[in-house]
Amino acid sequence: MWKAWKVNGFIFLVIINAFFWIAEIKLELLQEIDQKITDRIIRKFSNFIDGLGQNKTEAEFYDCPKEPIVFSEFAFGQTGNRIWEYAGGWALGKLLKRKAYVVPSALVHLSRLFPNLSSESFERIEHCNLTFMKVKEDAEPLETLEERAKGKHLMYSRFHMLPAAILPFMDEARVEFKFNDKIMAQVNQTLKDIGAEGHVVVAVHVRRSDYPRLLKGRYHLSEANASYYLDAMDWFRKNIKGNLLFVIVCDDYQWVRENLISSEDVVIVMQDNYHDLAMLCHADHNIIDYGTFGTWGGLMTKGHTISLLRLDIDRQMAKYKNWHVFDDRKYLTRYQ
Ligand SMILES: *[C@@H]1O[C@H](CO)[C@@H](O)[C@H](O)[C@H]1NC(C)=O
Ligand SMILES: *[C@@H]1O[C@H](CO)[C@@H](O)[C@H](O)[C@H]1NC(C)=O
Ligand SMILES: *[C@@H]1O[C@H](CO)[C@@H](O)[C@H](O)[C@H]1NC(C)=O
Ligand SMILES: *[C@@H]1O[C@H](CO)[C@@H](O)[C@H](O)[C@H]1NC(C)=O
Ligand SMILES: *[C@@H]1O[C@H](CO)[C@@H](O)[C@H](O)[C@H]1NC(C)=O
Repeated sequence: MWKAWKVNGFIFLVIINAFFWIAEIKLELLQEIDQKITDRIIRKFSNFIDGLGQNKTEAEFYDCPKEPIVFSEFAFGQTGNRIWEYAGGWALGKLLKRKAYVVPSALVHLSRLFPNLSSESFERIEHCNLTFMKVKEDAEPLETLEERAKGKHLMYSRFHMLPAAILPFMDEARVEFKFNDKIMAQVNQTLKDIGAEGHVVVAVHVRRSDYPRLLKGRYHLSEANASYYLDAMDWFRKNIKGNLLFVIVCDDYQWVRENLISSEDVVIVMQDNYHDLAMLCHADHNIIDYGTFGTWGGLMTKGHTISLLRLDIDRQMAKYKNWHVFDDRKYLTRYQ
């Protein structure tokens, strides 16, 4: 009986997750509806799903926090979304010198990649009666956040990227978001297999599959065509000295093979999400298009990043990094 319930629960979990894998799109729609209602529903789902699918850890209950905290509350989405969600809360904690907490399921998911995460599970203080001020994109300007929070606990939520908070802490971020040895060994093996030694490695992220829908819905844009990636590669050939090797990670192998494998210095190395993300983060340089996954790679790489959409995030990155934005009008179709 219990077992059957568990199986049903699991199937339900899969369906719900599939639903939220396109959550970026869904949330755009939901945002139109009363924010308060959706927040409450999502919170309930979050709690419910946290309880499913995994045995609840023997929660060690902590004393309730006496100082104000930051809590990253969102539990859904793919790896890229979750990392940004976690990282936003983590960085706000650094910035405001507050202890950071995160929903248990996000911690479980992200610990599979990053063994050394420092934020605590919210489960431990769930019993406390805390009142929160919610922040999303209105966390900015960060300079005034502490003053606006007036000593209240902060709840940071939703798939908003907050690079302005993370960029001042890049040294610490490289420790916090250090991939585990298994993933790094995979990456090392890939680099060995393609003979990358002695080369300057430029990782290229090509995001297609579900993304065109989002681009169309949110920005009235088509996805980038092949010229973008090829021009970006040429930029590196012109501007960066050394023996270049372009390694492509993507979600559309066929398209990449047909459109981007134009010369011997370009190879496809896609394996799985974790390997591919670690490849982006550890390459010397990045070419990315759009989305939280590629943008995380661009954030973590130490060299140059070429990006495409002229979004606010690009302006922030450009302040701290070698971040070059190509003119999207040359590579995307704008729908009327
Ligand atoms: C949950 O805990 C039970 C008993 O401790 C164990 O037999 C079972 O394998 C666990 N399930 C999962 C999904 O970890
Ligand atoms: C884990 O993080 C802590 C604090 O940031 C650091 O001191 C420690 O060396 C890290 N451990 C590993 C194995 O990276
Ligand atoms: C929780 O806190 C609020 C305000 O801080 C208060 O009104 C409410 O009575 C508290 N609830 C419990 C169960 O302590
Ligand atoms: C991967 O390669 C780097 C650089 O050669 C090395 O420092 C690191 O220890 C390797 N990691 C693993 C897990 O093999
Ligand atoms: C990409 O789009 C631009 C602008 O519409 C166009 O000039 C270019 O030829 C296209 N490239 C390819 C490979 O289709």
